[in-house]
Amino acid sequence: MNLKQIEITFSEQFPTAKNPIMVSAPGRVNLIGEHTDYNDGFVLPMAIDAKIVLMGAKRQDTTVNLYSMDYQALDSFTMDNIEHTQENSWSNYIRGVCSMYIEAGYSLSGMDVVLQGNVPQGAGLSSSAALEIGTALLLKELNQLEVPAVEMVKLAQKAENEFVGVNCGIMDQFISMLGEQDNCLLIDCRSLDYQLVPVPFSSANSSVVVVDSGVKRGLVDSEYNLRRSQCEQAVYELKKELPKITSLRDVGIDSLDFINQLPEDLAKRARHVVTENNRVIESVKALKNGELEKFGTLMYQSHASLRDDYEVSCKELDLLVELAQKIPGTIGSRMTGAGFGGCTVSIVKNEHLDLFKEKVSREYQEQTGIEPRIFVFNASKGAHKVF
Ligand code: GLA
Repeated sequence: MNLKQIEITFSEQFPTAKNPIMVSAPGRVNLIGEHTDYNDGFVLPMAIDAKIVLMGAKRQDTTVNLYSMDYQALDSFTMDNIEHTQENSWSNYIRGVCSMYIEAGYSLSGMDVVLQGNVPQGAGLSSSAALEIGTALLLKELNQLEVPAVEMVKLAQKAENEFVGVNCGIMDQFISMLGEQDNCLLIDCRSLDYQLVPVPFSSANSSVVVVDSGVKRGLVDSEYNLRRSQCEQAVYELKKELPKITSLRDVGIDSLDFINQLPEDLAKRARHVVTENNRVIESVKALKNGELEKFGTLMYQSHASLRDDYEVSCKELDLLVELAQKIPGTIGSRMTGAGFGGCTVSIVKNEHLDLFKEKVSREYQEQTGIEPRIFVFNASKGAHKVF
C-alpha cells in the first residue's frame, strides 16, 4: 500500500485540515481455535501483513467527513446523532465505533478522515475488525483519550454486535489490536488474558499460506447464530450432569461420555468446541517446542472436527484442504474463520511453495471453475500509530 498516496489524497480532500495523524490496523488469520471464542474458550490467531490505514485530523465541530479511497466515496455524519447508513455500508463500522465510544461516556470531536485497505474483503480475513480497530485507535489518538487496549477491543466488538448487527465473538478485534510481528496470540476469551507465542515457521523454512476459496460466506450469519444457540443449549443440558459449568469452556475432554449422550446435533457441536479448546492448548505447546509436524496434525484434526461435528465447512474448503494435504511440503491445513466459504490456512515448506501454488490453483480451478486467490502472510504488528 502506498502511504504517500494516502497523504496526497488527504491534502486534496481536506486542504485546510491541521495536524493529521495516521494509524494502521491489520486483518487476521486464525491458526487454530475456531468457534471457541463465544464459548469462553481459547483461540490462536495471528495478525497479517494486510491492513487498513486511516489518516485523520481533528475538527473544531462535531462533523465527521470520511473519504474511502477503495470505494472513491465520501460520507458524512455528525457525532451528535449517529445513524446507520444504507448508502455507504463501509461507513457503518466507523459510525458504530464512534457511537460505542460516546455511549461509554467519552466525548469526541468531529474529524476528517481518508482511509484505504488491502485486506481482501468478504474472505473471512477480518477486514471489518481491522476497520473497527483502526477507528478505535484513531479516535483515541485524535481526542487524546485514556483507553486501555482491551477496552478498545471491547468497544469495537460491541460496534460490530450492536451497530453493524453481526453477533461475532471477540477474537478478530483482539488480534487486530494486540498482534505482534513474528508471533501469534493465545487468547483466553473468558478472562481476556493473552500471551504472545512466537511462530517458528520462518526458522523452519516454512510459510503461512492462505487460500481464498472464492466462495462468499452466504449462510454465515444465520448458521453462525444457530451454532451459538446450540452451544448454549448443550450447556443447559450438560448442567444436569455437570452443575458447575457455565459454558463449554468448563467442559474437559474427560467429559466426552456425557457429551455423547446429548441429542445428536448438540453432541456434535459440543464435541467440536471441547476438543478444539484442547487442540489450541496442545498447539501452543507444539509451537513452543518447535514441533511443527504435531501442530500440522492438530490443524488437520481441527478441520475434520469443523467439517464433521460443527458442520461449518463446505465442499470447496474441504477440497482445498485435501489438495493441500497431497502436496509433499504441506505440514498442516484447515478452514479458518467462521466457515461456509472464505479461506483455508496451511503451513507449507518454502521449497514446495511454488508447487503448492501451482497445483492447488490448477486442480481447484479444474474441479470448481473458481480461480482461488493465494496469499503468503507474515505474522505482523497489531494496530499502531504510523505518525
Ligand atoms: C468469525 C467471528 C469470530 C469467531 C470466528 C469463528 O470470524 O467474527 O468471533 O467466532 O468467526 O472462530
